[in-house]
Amino acid sequence: MFAGVEEGMNKDTLILALETSCDETSAAVLSGKHRVLSNIIASQIPVHQKFGGVVPEIASRRHLEQIIPVVDTALAEAGVALQDLDAVAVTYGPGLVGALLVGVAQAKALAYALKKPLIGVHHLLGHIYANLLEHPDLKLPALCLVVSGGHTSLVHWQSHEQLSILGATRDDAAGEAFDKIARSLGLGYPGGPVIEKAARTGNREAIAFPRAWLEEGSLDFSFSGLKSAVLNYLHNAKQRGEEISVPDVSASFQEAVVEVLVEKTINAATAHGLETIALAGGVAANQRLREQLTATAESHGLKVIWPSLVYCTDNAAMIACAAYYRYQLGDFAGLDLNAVPYLPLDKALSS
Ligand code: KG4
Ligand code: ZN
Repeated sequence: MFAGVEEGMNKDTLILALETSCDETSAAVLSGKHRVLSNIIASQIPVHQKFGGVVPEIASRRHLEQIIPVVDTALAEAGVALQDLDAVAVTYGPGLVGALLVGVAQAKALAYALKKPLIGVHHLLGHIYANLLEHPDLKLPALCLVVSGGHTSLVHWQSHEQLSILGATRDDAAGEAFDKIARSLGLGYPGGPVIEKAARTGNREAIAFPRAWLEEGSLDFSFSGLKSAVLNYLHNAKQRGEEISVPDVSASFQEAVVEVLVEKTINAATAHGLETIALAGGVAANQRLREQLTATAESHGLKVIWPSLVYCTDNAAMIACAAYYRYQLGDFAGLDLNAVPYLPLDKALSS
């Protein structure tokens, strides 16, 4: 066992976590299981906006410039010195390899210099554990709908040592569909928030876009057919010289995504006898999804929780929260920890 771990059990554990998997450079200090002392996020969104999506090379370079100032600010805001830390945690996958490497190298250097344990965290485990920051007394098992830019999965969250995947997307992730449709509508990047905003004044029933239910009882998702249907609709309207209502297209598209996410999530919860549903990932920020899921869940006697907006999209506080439970289990990484760009979610608890 590393020096410091035994003492760490007697006081609130202080964990510094880093997150650099995509386009946010983030560092957070967590005290105990849920007290966020700082959560600094240097967003690169404005840098990538003019390209309509994240440019991996630019993201890596930006992370490199930002990582040290972001860590320094996180420690200063928390009022914590490096020597006070009990562990250093970092997202090691999945994500953009060059971006992940910046966080992993920085975390390894800190852990080595401080002689403190290093904790490698699966990015999506971080999204799932974001729920425990504000609901630290959540009783497991629960169902978690993980909906981000790269993933759409239904997770049976059995315990801090076990989770299993009940269903996942067979093609595009829900967030990816939001991003692609927003780009085709000329709304910019990231797509989720702009589509949600445009949808507020649109008619959800204006256009009957398809819902992919897949085989009877399937908990998998597919969003590529919906994406193609929206793109065809836009193309045909343009060919015919018809005016497109951006609010109507946005509202009808969003409704098609939300309806499938809600129905499959409720089916998964009832089939597996899970009474609490947690939402995770960037798309969990979507108000329509929250509203519809809550209303449907209530009618089935189920409860829904979600993280605050700042903990839905990428941030290091969620990584620190997941790391806290890895710390309690003594699940530490070696200094040979590497960035893993493709890392299945079912490997999240077996690093
Ligand atoms: O979790 P996240 O920050 O990064 C990944 O791990 O992928 O999720 C980013 C995704 C993007 O696709 C973005 O368009 C989507 O989350 N998103 C939303 C909303 N806010 C972010 N999708 C729908 N509605 C939103 N309000
Ligand atoms: Zn994410």
